[in-house]
Amino acid sequence: MSSSVRSHWTPSRRTFVTGGASFAAALPGLHGVSAAEIQTRKFDLHPAPGQARLVPEAGRDTAVWAYDGAVPGPELRVRQGERLRVTVRNGLEEETTVHWHGIRLPNAMDGVPHLTQKPIGPGESFEYEFELPDAGTYWYHPHQRSFEQVGRGLYGPLIIEEADPVRIDRDVTWMLDDWRLTRSAEIRDNFGNRHDMSHNGRVGNTVTINGSVPDSFPVRGGERVRLRLVNAANARNFALDFGDHDPRIIALDGQPVTPHAPEGGLVVLGPAMRADIILDMTGKPGSRVQVVDRFYRDMDYRLVDLAYGDTPLRDETPDWPIALSPNPLPEPDVADARRHEVMFSGGMMGGMVLARMGLERQGETMGMMGMMRGKGMWFINGVAAEGHILDPVLTLERGESHVIRMVNATAWHHPIHLHGHSFRVISRNGAPTTYREWQDTVLMAPQETVEIAFVADNPGDWMFHCHILEHQAAGMTGVIRVA
Ligand code: C2O
Ligand code: CU
Repeated sequence: MSSSVRSHWTPSRRTFVTGGASFAAALPGLHGVSAAEIQTRKFDLHPAPGQARLVPEAGRDTAVWAYDGAVPGPELRVRQGERLRVTVRNGLEEETTVHWHGIRLPNAMDGVPHLTQKPIGPGESFEYEFELPDAGTYWYHPHQRSFEQVGRGLYGPLIIEEADPVRIDRDVTWMLDDWRLTRSAEIRDNFGNRHDMSHNGRVGNTVTINGSVPDSFPVRGGERVRLRLVNAANARNFALDFGDHDPRIIALDGQPVTPHAPEGGLVVLGPAMRADIILDMTGKPGSRVQVVDRFYRDMDYRLVDLAYGDTPLRDETPDWPIALSPNPLPEPDVADARRHEVMFSGGMMGGMVLARMGLERQGETMGMMGMMRGKGMWFINGVAAEGHILDPVLTLERGESHVIRMVNATAWHHPIHLHGHSFRVISRNGAPTTYREWQDTVLMAPQETVEIAFVADNPGDWMFHCHILEHQAAGMTGVIRVA
């Protein structure tokens, strides 16, 4: 499950720890840690063309774009409360940025071209530096032409360790990706075509775990694994079935959640979403158990086999506690929150769905049925965005609680992501959610209404967009201003 990657660039990663004075923390939290104690962890990242052995049986490498010559890029592993300093040296022939997906950081470090920084030109460098208030599973990727840059392999995991982690035998990260490859294992060069943009995005034909098509994942009976799942695909959703195993979700999008079995036994991950699961290896010595992706009807496929070794690690399933301590998130006051409405529309069959939902009138007022605003195909409150410099969809009063009621008036799924904050998902189609999970990306089903709640405590202009990268590029992007 490792990726074999060769690149003509010398890997330039260096990691060391220094004690450093801290700048004033822009975010609440980190109680009990005085500025002088905060450690700064330094890394270099070098996005550049490279080669990766995505499909081992193809017997040849695929030309990719990669961080430090590897797909995924290096796992940046740091402790909660530390500072991260990453120097990005752009070896691509085009501009790039790095966005730290899910991290509650100061706006200037958010990696959005033009909006929060000048894009990093070819041969140029940029230094990102920020504190890490929350533990959990996060990831990084470019925000410049991300439908192609991420689609060619630019992404990596950012793991922030808890001060008091739950006890496990093995901590494993699976970064899932989905590639559209030719028969000779080359990346199909049809990024951003109109069909992908107006339908369900660039869904590919080759799914990788950590940069290669897997066959088996060796496990031992009785073993307890914390599996950190990250969906780095442009557009593919996953619904993972672990067979007779009984996975329990302990965190979503990095944030701890009441440990629970996934609904219907399937761990669902829209693009950009993460789930940390506890997986107890309850299979028989020498057996193989398939992990199957069942998201798309009639298109199930085997992702990988859990391959049991002959000697169990232990005979009993461990009974160690699995609940994680919460991160220092401000709790929204839902009863007293300011309320806002957001409607997503457009895409193939978009007009039909508006009609079916009885929203044509609203659609007309927003200009969506006839003369739509913008050249794009997808709309947030009637506007299809171009670029990153945008009039805000919403302006939220800083420090206040807000509820945003979002309506997916389209025929497609959309993973909706807000930068700079985590939000509680409080209801779906009017029914309260069981776990009020914190997320930074919420997957909305066609015609679904979802309410999210959060305290707008992080000032700035924050991207608010669909993480199907083709939808994002075709207009499904906005800015939420916290002021
Ligand atoms: Cu994962 Cu706007 O990003
Ligand atoms: Cu979308």
